[in-house]
Amino acid sequence: MIVPRLRELVAAWIDRIRARHSFSEPIESLLRDCCGPGSSFHDEHQRLSGSMWDHWGDCDPAEDQDGLLAPRPGAVVRLLHAGLTAADASSPAIGQRPILDIGCAAGRTTLELAAHLDRPTVGIDLDISILQHARAIRDSEEVSYPRRRIGIVYDRRSFSVRGSYAAETRGLVDYWCCDATALPFRESVFGLAVSLNNLDCVAAPLTALQEMIRTLAPAGKAVLATPYDWSSTATPVEGWIGGHSQRSELRGAGDRLLRELLQRGGHSSVLEGVRIIAERPAIPWHVRLHERSTVQYLCDLIALEKIG
Ligand SMILES: C[S@@+](CC[C@H](N)C(=O)[O-])C[C@H]1O[C@@H](n2cnc3c(N)ncnc32)[C@H](O)[C@@H]1O
Repeated sequence: MIVPRLRELVAAWIDRIRARHSFSEPIESLLRDCCGPGSSFHDEHQRLSGSMWDHWGDCDPAEDQDGLLAPRPGAVVRLLHAGLTAADASSPAIGQRPILDIGCAAGRTTLELAAHLDRPTVGIDLDISILQHARAIRDSEEVSYPRRRIGIVYDRRSFSVRGSYAAETRGLVDYWCCDATALPFRESVFGLAVSLNNLDCVAAPLTALQEMIRTLAPAGKAVLATPYDWSSTATPVEGWIGGHSQRSELRGAGDRLLRELLQRGGHSSVLEGVRIIAERPAIPWHVRLHERSTVQYLCDLIALEKIG
């Protein structure tokens, strides 16, 4: 954990830091029934279910047997590859520098980046529980998570991902508990930074963008994707990029405001030091809530280059 306000974070996450993760399925379900919806126990399982399903569900042999016309997992990996293509993030283009995966959650994109570009890659997130799962998958090549069926009913899914990533690739990857708005890295470190669906989850999106730009090396690339799904539980309204002030010239449009912030001469709070090199306005991404509900998003994807 390398975060500002360490006391706050540890106090908030202490149950999960100390948690035992090896309950049997019946005991886990009993605990969920006792704690109920809205509890931190259920909240953790809901987050794990959504993230692990999209990151790793394509490797789960049981996924095919659902029988329902359910959406397919793997949207975040498809989003990542759309971003890498848009940014032309090949090895020669980003030099020999390491890679940063901001808000890496279950960690699949971090491994995918290391496999694709063959260099040290660090995935950062604030969710200590999901980071523990990401790290366990990297080390054991086994996935195990509670997959939500309905209500507070979950099925434990356990499967092997052996051979999906070479040992050398897994050795290039690490997962750290860090805050995207206070990155514990010096200036100009990374050849590539990827921020997928993280911008609308942080308390200060503008600061997160500044931090991403600060830690990028000159000529380094960044892939930024967001569905602008603002919520006041994650971000105070004043911090939202769009989604409010519809009386203004931009009529509350987040996509237009983000571009103004990233383009020189565009906005009074312009983020100096990068230029937009490619844009894809509507790439699908989804979050599975339970077996009868998946939220479909359209992400705005922007590829950036740090000006030398
Ligand atoms: C919507 S999820 C997206 C995860 C992943 N990139 C994907 O697309 O599947 C947002 C992630 O950002 C993480 N997060 C929220 N605030 C953060 C912060 N300040 N610093 C780092 N990660 C944060 C959350 O814990 C969560 O895992």
